[in-house]
Amino acid sequence: MLTTRFSTAFGVEHPIVQGGMQWVGVAELVSAVANAGALGFLTALTQPTPEALVKEIERCREMTDKPFGVNLTILPTITPPPYDEYRRAIIESGVTVVETAGSSPEAHLPEFRAHNVKVLHKCTSVRHAVKAEEIGVDAVSIDGFECAGHPGEDDIPGLVLIPAAARRLTVPLIASGGFTDGRGLVAALALGAEGISMGTRFLCTVESPVHPGVKERIVANTELDTELILRSLRNTARVASNSVSRKVVEILDDGGEFADVRQLVSGARGRTVFDSGDVEAGIWSAGLAQGLIDDIPTVDDVVRRTVAEADDLISGRLTAFRRAA
Ligand SMILES: Cc1cc2nc3c(=O)[nH]c(=O)nc-3n(C[C@H](O)[C@H](O)[C@H](O)COP(=O)(O)O)c2cc1C
Repeated sequence: MLTTRFSTAFGVEHPIVQGGMQWVGVAELVSAVANAGALGFLTALTQPTPEALVKEIERCREMTDKPFGVNLTILPTITPPPYDEYRRAIIESGVTVVETAGSSPEAHLPEFRAHNVKVLHKCTSVRHAVKAEEIGVDAVSIDGFECAGHPGEDDIPGLVLIPAAARRLTVPLIASGGFTDGRGLVAALALGAEGISMGTRFLCTVESPVHPGVKERIVANTELDTELILRSLRNTARVASNSVSRKVVEILDDGGEFADVRQLVSGARGRTVFDSGDVEAGIWSAGLAQGLIDDIPTVDDVVRRTVAEADDLISGRLTAFRRAA
């Protein structure tokens, strides 16, 4: 058993988080994470309306009596989703933990605080981590360059980003990006974090709601099989390498603009991948962690063996080094 300031403050058994994942963070996965003693997040925007999110929260409660949270990804879009209504749905459903990501959560913090909702803000740079602490979040999750989804534009891998953030923060820090197992958890703790968040690892589990073909592709993929798309637009995303993501890179490298790739990167096509298992149908997020994933275990297995491996490492291999010295 590993206890950290994060696991204590957020009321979870293990210092392990399942980060929000569009189309993936639904009740089946999140309740399994909760039942395993880790902290899972339903993804608010996967639900088409705030009312649908309320129902999804109820469905998750039917599958677990342990705590779970909701991810609210705040995107700077032309026609934004009704964020205030999603926030209200979260609060009125009695959810007590939120993972915010994307833009600053500042506008939402007074309401969350007034209702005792703890906020874990996910960001990709030390400056944004420091700012998040200043505006009053309860913990920060920092995504290194390895991560699936949006690594930001600074390209700083976790080995430097995690300790650089840890030394500037007072609130607990969660390390994210590239973590799959107990080795990663121990490394994150050594670097100053109080736990880890995993996306790609939980995407490739029995309870993950995506087609088995996607999980098999993750197992087959190595750490070389991702692409960084939309770099020239300063909206970088790390996604699985396939004919579509490679085409997007090629078009933008040749001077193309967003309009030239809009159709290729559409969310609807990405969703088709997860529903059909046709891994060439569109863009889908996956991280460098793919290179460390070679099975499709249950969520409970992932959490149990991560904690057990971390415990063994600390009391075995690492302690042995100390004795030898
Ligand atoms: C399929 C998929 C979808 C994701 N969607 C979101 C999202 O909607 N909002 C968000 O904040 N992060 C999203 N992420 C990022 C994860 O929450 C997490 O930060 C990231 O996966 C960590 O890197 P890892 O995959 O190496 O563990 C997504 C990740 C994956 C794999």
